[in-house]
Amino acid sequence: MADLKLTLVVACALVDADKRVLIAQRPEGKTLAGLWEFPGGKCEPGERPEQSLIRELHEELGITVAEPCLAPLTFASYGYETFHLLMPLYICRRWEGLVTPREGQTLAWVRANKLRDYPMPPADIPLIPHLIDLLM
Ligand code: C5P
Repeated sequence: MADLKLTLVVACALVDADKRVLIAQRPEGKTLAGLWEFPGGKCEPGERPEQSLIRELHEELGITVAEPCLAPLTFASYGYETFHLLMPLYICRRWEGLVTPREGQTLAWVRANKLRDYPMPPADIPLIPHLIDLLM
């Protein structure tokens, strides 16, 4: 059996006062360009998942999140061709700063029951019902 390369990515559903969720469209030049995803990114060696997420949210969106504001909701586990993705999804309802697309990504605030209208990577799609249960 080939070695399984396990990749840990952390993702976050930012939820606004109207219970809309932030998604970001992966820009040209990245894998899966054009697909919509929950903000986040890869865990770097030595980082706890929450630290990675706080770093990614700051880099990608310019916001500051305090660790107690991150609540784990569920996780994705998906076998891509070259690696297996494990991706915890956190919920965050409070942050500091204005959400700003800092990496050329397009952003959208979407009601949970409309998330299926936005094409997502296959790993992200099974997360949607959890958000519908929580927010609708
Ligand atoms: O964002 P980044 O390119 O570092 O993520 C690594 C890989 O993890 C992506 O190429 C994609 O296959 C997967 N991914 C995903 N869903 C996300 C974020 C990343 O399936 N929300």
